[in-house]
Amino acid sequence: MQQVNLGLVGGGTVGGGVLAALERNGPLLSSRLGLSLQVTRLAVRQLNKTRSLPLPADRITDDWRKVVEDPDVHIVAELMGGTTTARDVVRTALRLKKPVVTANKALLSAHGEELFAEAARSGANLYYEASVAGGIPIIKVLRESLAGNRVLQIAGIVNGTCNYILTRMKLEGAAFEDVLQDAQRLGYAEAEPSLDIDGHDAAHKTGILASLAHGFWVQPQQIHTEGIRHITTLDIQFAAQLGYTIKLLGIVKSGVPTPGGAKRKSKKNASPCPVQVSVYPALIPNSHVLASVNHAFNAIAVRGDVVGDTLFYGRGAGADATASSVLSDLADAALDLKHGSHRRVPPFVAHEGNGCVASLDDLVSRYYVRLSVLDRPGVFARIAGVLAKAGIGISSIIQPEGHAGEAVPVILMIHDAPNAAIRRALGAVAKLTAVKAPPVMIRVETLE
Ligand code: NAP
Ligand code: HSE
Repeated sequence: MQQVNLGLVGGGTVGGGVLAALERNGPLLSSRLGLSLQVTRLAVRQLNKTRSLPLPADRITDDWRKVVEDPDVHIVAELMGGTTTARDVVRTALRLKKPVVTANKALLSAHGEELFAEAARSGANLYYEASVAGGIPIIKVLRESLAGNRVLQIAGIVNGTCNYILTRMKLEGAAFEDVLQDAQRLGYAEAEPSLDIDGHDAAHKTGILASLAHGFWVQPQQIHTEGIRHITTLDIQFAAQLGYTIKLLGIVKSGVPTPGGAKRKSKKNASPCPVQVSVYPALIPNSHVLASVNHAFNAIAVRGDVVGDTLFYGRGAGADATASSVLSDLADAALDLKHGSHRRVPPFVAHEGNGCVASLDDLVSRYYVRLSVLDRPGVFARIAGVLAKAGIGISSIIQPEGHAGEAVPVILMIHDAPNAAIRRALGAVAKLTAVKAPPVMIRVETLE
């Protein structure tokens, strides 16, 4: 049987998972492909670390060039993370006309345009299934399975660490910091966990999904991004009382409603910006299927104009789940090599839209607002007055019984309002003397 040699750069959570999965299922994969996949080289950062990898020590190096430039290595898997050396690894391999598999969404987000251009120039394919949603084969779904659809909406729980934290805060009332440490211990979190909890990792993934769905490269700075640091157990409990669950969502919507409707123009090119690409925590109704996606699981709801609603669910982080996606790419890469299928993985060919992403200020949605206010007569009237002046309607109010004269939480559910208008109005509410802390505002997504 023909042997395809693999060179791995990175032998940590994901690289170790790939080696273990190949050890377990290599013969099965070989019989399915008619090709034998063998890891012949591995690069790590520190050679003297104790590791239990199924690879002889003389195959391991701390110089990634020895892997990438080894003429006997046919396919390179970049599983090290980061955006500097990893960029060199991928560029060097592509320039050598070697197919590259990567799990690195931060790299694609920062340098995707350049790397896909390099892949197109060299004729070598760049595969990235593991870069979004761990074990869920969502890249293949958008690139191949739904190719005949216009994608109308994507709503995804795409960060396992945040979902794990929010789930344990809801189910156990656990403290944010304790749960984050568990997520790190379990191998879900990025080396720099602020990438997870501040929403950047979800933004990297949402940008990749949006680019696939709409055919233009979405730049990270075009994606409005909020994380989950400001979400408290109090908000999670109030949301539950109202019939909602708080989830960090990556959202891509086309034809989004804006205050000026279809006539609104972007200043830059005077044409409509109908695509929303954002990441933020949102209240979603408990009846929506995404509300019951818990722990490190991810799920992505995709609505196509032909297929209708679809849902993809699975483990979004961790060694095994991610290794499964890397193996899928390695299998594709090996078959593409065997059959000489150059450029089988198309870069982001412009096929829709004008590269313009809607500003969040223009977007209209419902909101959950938590205020900390002094429990004394006339306070509600003043808050309602400020909101009414801004044309913002309250759909319901919860105020737990408090102690007269003390600060108590008040929850307002707000009717559809433009983002800029609600932010301005809450700025004015925050200045009222009875309001004792900055208002907390979380969007409500019904995902209809
Ligand atoms: P990790 O556990 O920190 O492993 C990183 C590996 O890369 C380590 O083996 C490290 O070597 C090696 N490395 C770092 N710098 C290197 C260099 N300059 N030269 C050679 N090797 C180097 O990270 P991970 O969790 O496996 O993540 C790897 C990639 O997969 C990242 O892009 C991440 O975003 C992505 N990803 C991770 C998950 C997940 O659940 N963890 C899921 C999907 C995608 P040492 O072992 O010597 O430190
Ligand atoms: N840190 C990422 C997460 C890993 O928690 O989702 C998977 O991409």
